[in-house]
Amino acid sequence: MGKAKFGVFGLAVMGQNLARNIARHGFPVALYNRTGSRTEHFVQEFGKEGDFTPAGSPADLVAAIEHPRPILLMVKAGAPVDDAIGELLPHLEAGDIVIDGGNSFFRDTQRRTREMEAKGLRFIGAGVSGGEEGALEGPSIMPGGTREAYAEVEPILSAIAAQVDGTPCCAYIGPDGAGHYVKMVHNGIEYADIQLIAESYDLLRHATGLESGELADVFRTWNEGDLESYLIEITSQVLAKVDAGSGRPLVDVILDEAAQKGTGKWSSQSALDLGVPTTSISEAVFARFLSAEKEQRVAASRVLPGPNGGRRSPETIVDAVRDALYASKIVAYAQGFEQLAAASQEEGWELDLGTLATIWRGGCIIRARFLNRIRDAYAEDPELQNLLLAPYFVEGLSRCQQAWREVAALAVELGIPTPAFSSALAYYDGYRRERSPAALIQGLRDFFGAHGYRRIDRPGDFHTRWAQDGSEVQL
Ligand code: 6PG
Repeated sequence: MGKAKFGVFGLAVMGQNLARNIARHGFPVALYNRTGSRTEHFVQEFGKEGDFTPAGSPADLVAAIEHPRPILLMVKAGAPVDDAIGELLPHLEAGDIVIDGGNSFFRDTQRRTREMEAKGLRFIGAGVSGGEEGALEGPSIMPGGTREAYAEVEPILSAIAAQVDGTPCCAYIGPDGAGHYVKMVHNGIEYADIQLIAESYDLLRHATGLESGELADVFRTWNEGDLESYLIEITSQVLAKVDAGSGRPLVDVILDEAAQKGTGKWSSQSALDLGVPTTSISEAVFARFLSAEKEQRVAASRVLPGPNGGRRSPETIVDAVRDALYASKIVAYAQGFEQLAAASQEEGWELDLGTLATIWRGGCIIRARFLNRIRDAYAEDPELQNLLLAPYFVEGLSRCQQAWREVAALAVELGIPTPAFSSALAYYDGYRRERSPAALIQGLRDFFGAHGYRRIDRPGDFHTRWAQDGSEVQL
C-alpha cells in the first residue's frame, strides 16, 4: 500500500465524514484520533469505502502521508487546535500543510499562520460549512492561507466540495485568517436567516392560529419561489415533525432557549470594531440571549401586560410575511457582505465578494437560490457598495416594502417580537434617507462636550459657544 495523500486529525462526526468524502474521491487518507478506539471503529465501519490508513499516534499519522503532507485538523475551536498542532509539530517537515477545518476565531488563525510559517510550515484556515451531511456529500469550503499552499490542496478540496452547475463550492479566499473570517460572517448571516424564519413562524402562528403542520405547508410553498433555500426547506421538515412520545408537533416540545457556539457573537463583535451596521446579525444574537432567559420570561409573562390579541385570516397575511421575510433577508445579506468588504479593506485581504456568493450557492447552511443573484450583482458591478443598490434587489425591495411595513406594524400591534424584521426595515429606511437626524446628535454632542460638528455649507470643524454668547467658532 502506498502512502496516503491526505491526513485527518480528529474523528468526531465532521472529521469522519470529511475523511469518507475524501477517500470516496479516490485519495488515500491517513487517520488519527486521540481516542484510538474511535479510529478502529471508523475503519471497521467505513474501511471499504476507500483507502484508509489508521494511525495510532501523531507521529504515525505524519509518517503515513506523502511529503509535503496536507493534514486536516477537525477538532474543537480554541485550545484543542493549538494542542493538536503542538502534537504534530515535532514530526512535521518543512513544506507540510496543516489545515484547520473548524470554526476557529480568525485572529487565532492569523497567529497560528505566523507561528507555523516561522517554522517553515504552511497553514490554511478553512471554513467548512454544511454540517454532517455536507461534510459527507459536499460542503462549501472557504480556505484562507497562501496561494501556493492552497494550490497544493486545491485538487482535493475542490473535488470534495459541493458542485453547483459544474463549479465547486470552494475557492481561494485570501491570506491567513480570511477563510475563517468569511466562515464567521457566513454563520452570522445564518443566525440572521434563522431568526427571520423564526419570526415569520411566530407571527403566522400567533396571528393566524395556523398549526405547525399547516405552517410546514406554508414554508414548503415558499421554498418554491424567491425564498428557495436549504433553511426554508428544513424549516418545513422541522415543523412537520410529530413527537413520537407525546403526539404533539416536535417544535412544541423543544425547549425554547436557543444555544450558540459563538460565531454569531464574534461576527457582531467584529462588525462593531469595523463600524459596520450589521443590525440583523446582532439582533439575531441578542434574540438568542433573550430566549435563554427562560425563567425570567416565564415570570415576566405573568406580570407585564401586552396588547389584546386579535386574529388575522391566513389569506391576508401569509403572502405579506413571505415578502417581509424576503426583504429582510436581502438586508441581512447586504449587511453581511458590507461587513466582509470592510474587513477585507481593514486586513488587506482583497476578498472577492462575487466568489463568496458563488461558493455559498451549494453545500453550506445558507445556500439559497438568491445567492445566484448576489453573484450576478457583483459580476455586473464589482465595485457595488451595497447589495440593496443592485437593480435586481432594488426591484425586490420595491415590490416587498409595503408588505414589510404592514407586517412590522402588525407585529407591534399584536405584541409579537420581530427584532430582525423590524431592525432590517429600520436599516432600509435609514439607508435610503438622504438627511438623517444625526445632525441633532452632533448638535447635542457639541453642546455637552464641545465635540464639534461639520456643516453642510462650508468645510471645517465648528463649535458653538453654547454656554457663552452662542457664537460659532471654527476649530
Ligand atoms: C455550518 C454551521 C456550523 C454550525 C454552527 C452552529 O456552516 O455548517 O454554521 O458551523 O452548525 O456553528 O452555530 P451555533 O451553535 O452557534 O448556532
